[in-house]
Amino acid sequence: MNQQAEAFLAEAQSLANEIDAFKQVHVSRPHESAHLHVSGRASYTDDIPPIAGTLHAALGTSPKAHAKIVSMNFDAVRATPGVVAVFTAEDIPGVNDCGPIIHDDPVLAQGIVQFVGQPMFIVVATSHDTARLAARRATIEFEDLVPVLTPEDARKAESYVLNPLKLSRGDAEGRMAKASHHERGAMKLGGQEQFYLEGQIAYAVPKDDDGMHVYCSTQHPTEMQHLVAHVLNVHSHNVLVECRRMGGGFGGKESQSGIFACCAALAAWKLLCPVKLRPDRDDDMMITGKRHDFVYDFEVGYDNDGRIDGVAVDMTSRCGFSADLSGPVMTRAVCHFDNAYWLSDVKIEGYCGKTNTQSNTAFRGFGGPQGAFAIEYIMDNVARSVGRDSLDVRRANLYGKTENNKTPYGQTVEDNVIHELIAELEETSDYRRRRAAINEFNANNEILKKGLALTPVKFGIAFNVTHFNQAGALVHIYTDGSMLVNHGGTEMGQGLNTKVAQVVAHELGVNFERVRVTATDTSKVANTSATAASTGTDLNGKAAQDAARQLRERLAKFAAEKFGGGTVTPAQVRFANDRVIVGDDAIPFGEVVQKAYLARVQLWSDGFYATPKLYWDQATMQGRPFFYYSYGAAVSEVVIDTLTGEMRVLRADALHDVGASLNPALDKGQVEGAFVQGMGWLTTEELWWNDKGKLMTHAPSTYKIPTTNDMPADFRVDLFKNRNVEDSIHRSKAVGEPPLLLPFSVFFAIRDAVSAVGDHKVNPPLNAPATAEEILKAVNAVRGARS
Ligand code: MTE
Ligand code: MOS
Repeated sequence: MNQQAEAFLAEAQSLANEIDAFKQVHVSRPHESAHLHVSGRASYTDDIPPIAGTLHAALGTSPKAHAKIVSMNFDAVRATPGVVAVFTAEDIPGVNDCGPIIHDDPVLAQGIVQFVGQPMFIVVATSHDTARLAARRATIEFEDLVPVLTPEDARKAESYVLNPLKLSRGDAEGRMAKASHHERGAMKLGGQEQFYLEGQIAYAVPKDDDGMHVYCSTQHPTEMQHLVAHVLNVHSHNVLVECRRMGGGFGGKESQSGIFACCAALAAWKLLCPVKLRPDRDDDMMITGKRHDFVYDFEVGYDNDGRIDGVAVDMTSRCGFSADLSGPVMTRAVCHFDNAYWLSDVKIEGYCGKTNTQSNTAFRGFGGPQGAFAIEYIMDNVARSVGRDSLDVRRANLYGKTENNKTPYGQTVEDNVIHELIAELEETSDYRRRRAAINEFNANNEILKKGLALTPVKFGIAFNVTHFNQAGALVHIYTDGSMLVNHGGTEMGQGLNTKVAQVVAHELGVNFERVRVTATDTSKVANTSATAASTGTDLNGKAAQDAARQLRERLAKFAAEKFGGGTVTPAQVRFANDRVIVGDDAIPFGEVVQKAYLARVQLWSDGFYATPKLYWDQATMQGRPFFYYSYGAAVSEVVIDTLTGEMRVLRADALHDVGASLNPALDKGQVEGAFVQGMGWLTTEELWWNDKGKLMTHAPSTYKIPTTNDMPADFRVDLFKNRNVEDSIHRSKAVGEPPLLLPFSVFFAIRDAVSAVGDHKVNPPLNAPATAEEILKAVNAVRGARS
């Protein structure tokens, strides 16, 4: 071979290698806005430069949990200098409702109030402070009604927001009656405030010809569009809702951004002025719903090894005064009671308690954590009762791979990796050796006690409601070769825009920097689903890929004709390295785009995706609600002080399955964040209402979210090597919610430490959150039971 040919071959080979190595997915890269987040330049709704004449709204809220409104007098409000207007339910031109499913959710209270904090009227003023101050000056007469304040009372009164949900299989009663061991128990699990760093906010700007543009911090722009249209009595096409990003949503801005969007839009509509509504933190916590707290009764029958024969659980959630998303939350709780376990004979009942408190809503996991917590509690009890290590009992009950793999709701578990995942974690966390060391520590220490627990997660991915599992996207290529992507999902810090941009860059073989993702906007992609149920990337990633593919095919056809000299087919054109490879030529992407434009090729495309294989019958609670499952497990080690109830997490190891990760850095971040957030829920975050139904923990001074100081001292998070068996976006798996269940291991490690006080002979009556007070109570109960 001559030198020239050799050089040519070498170059061709190196180009081929580069092309093969070129990938924009399955690689770690920073969040697309990281540089803006850390420098304070990321623009949130409140940072949008206000339009001249912008007014500020504040909500007047109910001081009563349940009362008839006898009269409202706003003379003192209106007399406050700077106040422009006061609006009540009477001023709403359309329907006074912002319920996402059932229409029992007034925007502004009318006739009665149903919880302390319920919005009753809107004050609009020239400044934010004036509006807030004036809102407190209303004189309102009430006639008290009897409130229902707890899920237990709701249950007694049979006060529900919807009919109970029931799911059973086999003969739980019969199996329990015949089992070698049998026990009953009860426990409680607290709720949780979403505590997004950016609070709720909406900024409504009236537009030409009855248009309304609402900038809103929301996970569900389309829902906001519908609600505002109904309240104003206009068509959906009159309303545009836009959200560039949220400073966290965590489920709290799925439906509950509605009240703020509607009130801002109502005021703007009436006054024909831009109106901003930004409640302060206390008002936000008093007005909006949280994670549902649950109370449980259970009954279980099992054998000498701790294998469950039959189990029955009765769960009641605190829904608050309206249905909101409580039905779907309970559905997910019922469908996650099994967690990772094969329960042959099972009976599950879920009751949605109606209480005179905030209307509880979505929060990371959406009921899944509440359902799975119950079976983990039962496993923990069973293990102690049979005197086996809880890991062995959990393992004995896991779903099988090819048999014993059908869920109580009829879906077959086809992608089970929990056995190998647990085995790997048991090894890497040094579980057995540390168990022995802890036993020894506890034998030698009276006051400090350590505990250890490994808990698994299996979490179903997709919206239970089949039709929500769809998404759209729009991709523009401009003539300079830069791209603008819009999709139906919203960015709340989770990295959705980064992943979608990666998918688009990968599809067209271009550098990531070419792709920019813009604000979610109901006028660009219509009829979007909430960014929720962890499906953001699964749905919008696929929709964006579809759009990008169409563009690639058009460009390939053009490039083959233009540069291929009649010998290259469109299928042979490759896109990599920011170049378009046609035969021996590698033409810069920008040049191809430019020429395609001149040749009048359409350089933008829409894309669509609908998740396959799903069906669900809510009436029978049977079907295939989930496309696939995500798995994970964590081991936590804690130490407690039995004199003060203080607790520290000494070490936590988490191994989590995200399939073939699109971006391992972001995914690890999600696992770490979810772990700490879930740990906060189960340990320090306590919601407390007084006997008048007023939430007393409505600020960070009284409501303790975890800080960096509460992080496990030694925290090891890893992604499990896997590939989605389903054709998900690049075989990845959703990550947003499932790892929130990993810190069950913290709670059960605490319970293990408490039980060491009684030599593991007594099941500690520990409820969640395991605050210092709760730990101390449980320690004393165990001591009492032993003496
Ligand atoms: N991560 C951050 N940083 N902020 C958030 O608000 N919300 C969680 C999770 N991770 C959240 C987050 C919740 S409740 C869900 S459902 C998913 O992100 C939604 O985004 P995804 O579907 O794109 O994962
Ligand atoms: Mo997440 S709770 O589904 O917004």
